[in-house]
Amino acid sequence: MDRETKLWLVVLFFLFSATYCVVGVPQVPCLFIFGDSLSDSGNNNNLNTEAKANFMPYGVDFPAGPTGRFTNGRTSVDIITQLLGFDHFIPPYANTNGTDIALGVNYASGAAGIRNETGTHMGEDISFGLQVQHHRDIVSQLTTKLGTDKVQQHLNKCLYYVNIGNNDYLNNYFLPEHYPSNSNYTTEQYAIALAIEYSTYVKDLYELGARKFSLIGLNLIGCIPYEISTHGKNDSMCVQEESQAAQLFNEELKALVDRYNKELVGAKFIYVNSAFMKYSNFKLPDSLKCCKDKENGLCFPNEESCIGRHLHPFFDAFHPTEKVNLFTARCAYSSPIPTYTYPMDISQLVKL
Ligand SMILES: *[C@@H]1O[C@H](CO)[C@@H](O)[C@H](O)[C@H]1NC(C)=O
Ligand SMILES: *[C@@H]1O[C@H](CO)[C@@H](O)[C@H](O)[C@H]1NC(C)=O
Ligand SMILES: *[C@@H]1O[C@H](CO)[C@@H](O)[C@H](O)[C@H]1NC(C)=O
Ligand SMILES: *[C@@H]1O[C@H](CO)[C@@H](O)[C@H](O)[C@H]1NC(C)=O
Repeated sequence: MDRETKLWLVVLFFLFSATYCVVGVPQVPCLFIFGDSLSDSGNNNNLNTEAKANFMPYGVDFPAGPTGRFTNGRTSVDIITQLLGFDHFIPPYANTNGTDIALGVNYASGAAGIRNETGTHMGEDISFGLQVQHHRDIVSQLTTKLGTDKVQQHLNKCLYYVNIGNNDYLNNYFLPEHYPSNSNYTTEQYAIALAIEYSTYVKDLYELGARKFSLIGLNLIGCIPYEISTHGKNDSMCVQEESQAAQLFNEELKALVDRYNKELVGAKFIYVNSAFMKYSNFKLPDSLKCCKDKENGLCFPNEESCIGRHLHPFFDAFHPTEKVNLFTARCAYSSPIPTYTYPMDISQLVKL
C-alpha cells in the first residue's frame, strides 16, 4: 500500500471510530427506498439478469448471509435505516406480502437507472419509472387497509430516499456499444434530459403523498475500478470525463432541490453530495477491490473474498465495501461538513 492509500484509510478509521447506538422508536414511521445496486436488498434475485448478488462472497459479513445486497455487509441505506432507529431493515418489494409494508418498502434494483433502457444489456431490471409504479401499488394496498385520510397522514411523515442515476452513465452513456445516448446527447444535454425525467418521477411520489425527500447525488464514477480498467487511459488514474459528466447531473439535481422546495407545497428536499469521497489518491486499481471479479465486474460466485475487507474501499469492481458504506451513511445522516448535504442533513430533515 502506498502512502496516499494509507493516509486515506487513516482518515476513514478516524471518522468511523465513534460508536453509535440506536434505541427506541424510529424517527420516521416509514422509509421508502428507490435506487440501484447501491441500495438493492434482493429485488433482482428472481429477475432474468446478470446483475445479481445473492451468492457468496456477497453478504459474507451480513448476518443473514447473501441476500442480493451488492456488498460484503450492509448497504449505505441499511445503515441509515439503523441510524433512524428502525430495528429491522426495510423489506425488498419482491419479498413483501402485504403485512409488512407499513414501515416502508425497498424498490431498488441492480443495474437500473432513471432511463428505462439503462442496464438492460445485462438483462431485466426495475427502472425508476417502474419502481414508482410499484410504489403506487403499495400505496393502494395501504389505502385499502387504512383508508385514504390515514394513509396520507402516514405517508406524509415518511422519508423517501432516492439514490439513482449512476447506471445512466456506467450502464448507458459510457457504453456506446450497447446504447445510442452517447451519440444522441452531449453530456450537458444528457444531464438535463435525465434531470427532467427524474423530476417527473419525484413529482409522482409527491402526488402519492411523499413530503420528505433525500436525493443522493452521483459518485465520482470515473474512479470506480471497473471504469479505470476498461476506460482509463492511464492505469492508475480516474477517468475524469466520466466523473465530470456525472457532476453535471449533480448540479441539475441540486437545482431541482431548490426548485421543488419552492414549488411543491409542504415538501422538503435535501441533496447529498456523494462525490465528496475522493478515490483519486489510489494508485493501483487492483488493490482497491476485494473479491475476484468476472469480466462484468461482479464477484465470481462462491470464490473466497479477501481477508482484510475493511482495508479495501471496493468489494467487487463496482461496489463499495460496508466500511465505506458506513462512512457515506453517517455523513448523509449527520453531515460532518456543511457542503456534504444541502440545505441540511437527514437527521435534521426527519425532525421537521
Ligand atoms: C409476511 O411477512 C412477514 C415478515 O416478512 C411474516 O412474518 C409473515 O408471516 C408473512 N405473512 C404471510 C401471510 O406470508
Ligand atoms: C418508462 O417506463 C415507465 C414504466 O413502465 C413508463 O411509464 C414510461 O412511459 C417509460 N418511459 C419512456 C420514456 O419510455
Ligand atoms: C437516438 O438516435 C437514433 C438515431 O439518430 C434514433 O433512432 C433514436 O430514436 C434516438 N434515441 C433516443 C433515445 O433519443
Ligand atoms: C500515468 O500517470 C502517472 C502518474 O501521474 C505518470 O507518472 C505516468 O507517466 C503516466 N503513464 C502514462 C502512460 O501516461
